[in-house]
Amino acid sequence: MFNKKTVRDVDVRGKRVLVRVDFNVPLSDRPNGGKEVADDTRIRAALPTVQFLLQQGAAVILMSHLGRPKGEVKKEFSLRPVADYLSRILETQIDFCDDCVGSEADLSANSLQPGNVLLLENTRFHPGETKNDPWMAKQLATLADIYVNDAFGSAHRAHASTEGVAHHLPAVAGFLMEKEIQYLGQVITDPERPFIAILGGAKISDKIGVIRHLLDKADRVLIGGGMANTLFFAQGYPIGDSLFEEEVLEVAREIIAESGDNLRLPFDVVIADAFSNDAEAKTMGMGPVPNGWRILDIGSETIKSYKKVILEAETIVWNGPMGVFEFPNFAKGTFEIAQAVAESKAISIIGGGDSVAAIQHAGLADKIDHLSTGGGASLEMLEGKELPGLVALQDKD
Ligand code: 3PG
Repeated sequence: MFNKKTVRDVDVRGKRVLVRVDFNVPLSDRPNGGKEVADDTRIRAALPTVQFLLQQGAAVILMSHLGRPKGEVKKEFSLRPVADYLSRILETQIDFCDDCVGSEADLSANSLQPGNVLLLENTRFHPGETKNDPWMAKQLATLADIYVNDAFGSAHRAHASTEGVAHHLPAVAGFLMEKEIQYLGQVITDPERPFIAILGGAKISDKIGVIRHLLDKADRVLIGGGMANTLFFAQGYPIGDSLFEEEVLEVAREIIAESGDNLRLPFDVVIADAFSNDAEAKTMGMGPVPNGWRILDIGSETIKSYKKVILEAETIVWNGPMGVFEFPNFAKGTFEIAQAVAESKAISIIGGGDSVAAIQHAGLADKIDHLSTGGGASLEMLEGKELPGLVALQDKD
């Protein structure tokens, strides 16, 4: 149950509302210089809150980080291209301020009229942002009457704009934050069963906490991708030239020892004689991988068995591809799993940039109940951790 106040619970008419969004989006170079938005998923996901506030007669001040400029002003991390993009999709002029705090920001915020939108420059151009510096949090708070956090993707960060500022203003959630927490929260607290987690991706180290937590909660945890290699190695299989993470081998052994039969590893894999789409490839039952070969995808028997589990599920969470899906010859596992998740009757939630990209690439995004906009944030939720950006918001009465 979502127990935080939202934008519906506050009167914003005629007020200045400071909204933390996650506009940490990929940018690409324009042919004639400058940068442009390369993927607008996160921007579009924030629009319902922005539009609602505008309709309610608020003046909307947006702030976000972009990339990791480490407390310095770096032009390549400017949010200006996002302001241009927003102006286009909202079909209205968006004001832009070159700083998120200080006299220029004060002036821009004070002169902003209801129904108008101002985007502030990257909060991470100030070292105080990631340090959650109290001075910076107070400065941000002086810009507005109400604070809204709609940046689910950054809610696992206790930064000045995601956490600190919430202690100085009435602080509520936006619609995106609410939706993300409702979906992921349900999975953690009270999933419809059978509840299936599909975990993949290159590295197991990022997801150790998630695997452990989900092994406790889920009826099945299906593993694929590079992370399976470390688990195979921990089981004692030679894995040829496959990538694995030596530093987490001990933990991988513990996971295998602790897990019951709800942990499923691939039992056949596609191996290749080079890390290339054009490499020679063959499928083998899981066993010692010959030297000079590496695992690049799950095999067809594993796909068949994983699909069966997926089609019987009532709740599915998927994070991370099943193989090197950037290479078309090793994309079968990921795309077949995507297809099965899309076909299943289960409540389906996909998190993590790569699996979201895979489902979009397969043209199946509209068949998924919820595509999370948060990579790290969704993983921390699945790990059972509290998100500081959410905790700081006001509870419902
Ligand atoms: C993300 O892309 O996961 C969020 O925007 C958080 O970014 P960060 O990992 O740089 O804090």
